[in-house]
Amino acid sequence: MSLANLRQRIDTREARVGVVGLGYVGLAVACAFARAGFAVRGIERRAERVAMINSGSSPMQGDEPGLAELLLQVTSMGMLQASASAETLRDCDVILIAVETPVEPTSKAPTYEALTAAARAVGKELRPGALVIVESTVAPGTLERVVRPGLEEASGLRVDADFYLGHCPERVMPGRLLHNLTTMSRVCGGHTPDTAEVMAALYRTIVSADLDTTDCITAELVKTTENAYRDVQIAFANEVALICEGLGADVWRVRELVNKSPSRTMHLPGAGVGGHCIPKDPWLLAYAARNTGIMARLLPAARTVNDSMPGHMADLAVEALSEHGRPIQGATVAILGFAYLENSDDVRNTPTEPVIARLREMGAHVRVHDPFVDGLQGDIFATICDADAAIIMVGHDCYKELDLAALREVLRLPVLVDGRRVFEPAAARQAGLTFRGIGRG
Ligand SMILES: NC(=O)c1ccc[n+]([C@@H]2O[C@H](COP(=O)([O-])OP(=O)(O)OC[C@H]3O[C@@H](n4cnc5c(N)ncnc54)[C@H](O)[C@@H]3O)[C@@H](O)[C@H]2O)c1
Repeated sequence: MSLANLRQRIDTREARVGVVGLGYVGLAVACAFARAGFAVRGIERRAERVAMINSGSSPMQGDEPGLAELLLQVTSMGMLQASASAETLRDCDVILIAVETPVEPTSKAPTYEALTAAARAVGKELRPGALVIVESTVAPGTLERVVRPGLEEASGLRVDADFYLGHCPERVMPGRLLHNLTTMSRVCGGHTPDTAEVMAALYRTIVSADLDTTDCITAELVKTTENAYRDVQIAFANEVALICEGLGADVWRVRELVNKSPSRTMHLPGAGVGGHCIPKDPWLLAYAARNTGIMARLLPAARTVNDSMPGHMADLAVEALSEHGRPIQGATVAILGFAYLENSDDVRNTPTEPVIARLREMGAHVRVHDPFVDGLQGDIFATICDADAAIIMVGHDCYKELDLAALREVLRLPVLVDGRRVFEPAAARQAGLTFRGIGRG
């Protein structure tokens, strides 16, 4: 099938769309294309997730506006079917790959187990004339070095001659998956300019914003750069927050006034950076640089600053407890929030984990609450009751609604450490709490 034929099948919605990986990204994308009128086949290796999706119930527990309803709608209409077997990709005209792309914990090099397995599985079922699009975030150069050879070896087909290849990185955030997916601009990186044009036609069926066509390497660079940029900006805000603490100033007031200066948009400081993407995408960019002999310096420095914030949260708790003559050894600490993001169930690379580890290392007893995470749900006050300190790690709505006087009442010692600017220091102190917060000197 030629690109012109494929384009026609997209325009008439005859094209069948396969999505490999039905996680946060893949499930939302699969639902969006099904809503646009395509028959979608989703491939997912987690069997229990396949079963849930086929029964029309969303596997996500955090707030995800519209997704559960859309999933029920498209599965009951038969527009989206999930399977653990890649065989159903055989008759797909377009196959999107949306699998995880983590980095190795020590070397920070990408571990492409999922991506290479997906490329192999897709390659085995690939039919001539099909278009494969990688949506996962990858180190620049990965389409050429990893995905293309994987597809070609498994299929016996050649890119551009027998099938088409492109990269359209995702820009969604958990909590706004469908909204982001349909309203944010996308970069359509094609292996050839004609492929990029067909990709843009495909995404036009679900995206109302700009669709910018380019080549694969540019698309790979854009995605990793935009996330590395964010990480560096957050690190900058965190560094200023630590300086403010030392100087007895309030980083939020400093930030507000800095941002009055033209072209200054200082980011938000906080208790740490989590999620699947921001903590690893700068490493993907640094890895690509290393492959060309360039050692990134700023990106690792930013990672170091952001990775230090959970430890700093633990230090703030130690400091506040010592004001009450309570050593951390043997103290009970209640942590509010385990997900990495407010009102989400996503716990990947959560900054709460290193806080817990650090506190336990120092001999504290740690209790954790999170309304969206299995095993940590339940009554907030039961978690806080008789604790020596409460630490807010996530700005979930239910924590914002907490009454400070009631909090003070149930705590054994009146210690509150706020990593997400949920409370103002003055209000906390008025409620009789010993307060510490990121950037609150
Ligand atoms: N989560 C986000 O907000 C977000 C935003 C932008 C980009 N991304 C990027 O999108 C990609 C996917 O992220 P995610 O958050 O959806 O990850 P995820 O872990 O939620 O989903 C990936 C899914 O793929 C499945 N999978 C892995 N290998 C498979 C295979 N060979 N066959 C079938 N299924 C397979 C996994 O079981 C998992 O359910 C990553 O590269 C990420 O960096 C994520």
